[in-house]
Amino acid sequence: MSIKTAVVDGVATIEIARPEKKNAITGAMYSQLAAAFDAAREDPAVRAVLLTGQPGIFTSGNDIDDFVKRPASLEEAPSFAFMKALMGCDKPVIAAVTGAAIGIGTTMLLHCDFVYVSDEARLAMPFVSLGLVPEFGSSLIVPQLMGNARAAEKLLLGDPFTGADAVECGIATAVLPASEVVRHARRVAERFNALPPGAVRATKRLMRGPRAEALLATIKSEGAIFGERLKSPEAREAFDAFFAKRKPDFSRF
Ligand code: COA
Repeated sequence: MSIKTAVVDGVATIEIARPEKKNAITGAMYSQLAAAFDAAREDPAVRAVLLTGQPGIFTSGNDIDDFVKRPASLEEAPSFAFMKALMGCDKPVIAAVTGAAIGIGTTMLLHCDFVYVSDEARLAMPFVSLGLVPEFGSSLIVPQLMGNARAAEKLLLGDPFTGADAVECGIATAVLPASEVVRHARRVAERFNALPPGAVRATKRLMRGPRAEALLATIKSEGAIFGERLKSPEAREAFDAFFAKRKPDFSRF
C-alpha cells in the first residue's frame, strides 16, 4: 500500500509511502490519492486534511517509468483525477513537506492551503529539463505569486529552491526543523476542530473563486501541450538519461 490514510481527531492524514522509489507517484497511487481526498471531503468527521510524505522525502514526482509506459494526455491521466480531487477539496488541506518535493510534488503544494516545509527539503519544478511543460496551473500561479523574473528561474531553468525561498516567494507558509514539520502541520489541522466548518468551507471557496476560471483554462492548455511533450524525442532523451543515470544530451535538437 503506497498511500496510507487514517482519520484521527478530525484530521484525515494522507501519506505518500513508497520510500524505496523516493515516493514517486504511479497511476495507481494517484487513483488512491484521489479516492482519499474524495473520502475526506465526504466524511463529516473530517475537519481538515494533512498531506505528507516520508522522513527525508515528500515526493520525487510522477513515476518516470509511468511517463514512458503510459504517456496519456493529462486529462485522461490518473494524476488529473487526483489534482481535481485536491483542488475540489473544500476542507483545509495542510501539507507537511518532509523532504524533496519535485515536479508534481511542488505543483500540488500550489493547491494546498497551508504548506509547512522541512528545513532539509528542496523543491523543484524541472519540467523543461524533462522535455515537458508546467502542469496543473503552475504556469499561471507561479508567475502570479512571485513575478515573471523569479518564476523563470523556477520554471524555465528548473532551479531547485529551499523551504525558506518557498516561504519568501509565497509558495510555503513556514519552514520548520525536519523533526517538527509533521507535528506542527497536524497541530494546525487540529485547530479546525474548534472552528465553524461551514464558514471555513465558504471562506476557502471565496479565496479561490476569483481565479478559478483562468486556472481551469490554463490547466486545459497545459494538459494538451504536456500530452504532446510526453511523446517528444526531447522527453524520451530525458527519461532514458534518468534511468541510465547520465546527463541528458539535448545538443541534437
Ligand atoms: N520516477 C521513477 N523512479 C524514481 C523517481 C521518479 N520520479 N525518482 C526516484 N526514482 C527511483 C530511482 O530510479 C531509484 O531507483 P533504483 O533504486 O531502482 O535505481 C530510486 O528511486 C532512488 O532514487 P535515487 O535517484 O537513487 O535517489 P537520490 O537520493 O540519489 O535522489 C531524487 C533523489 C529525488 C533527487 C532523484 O531521485 C530525482 O531527481 N528523481 C527524479 C525527480 C524528477 O525529475 N521528478 C519529476 C517528474 S515530473
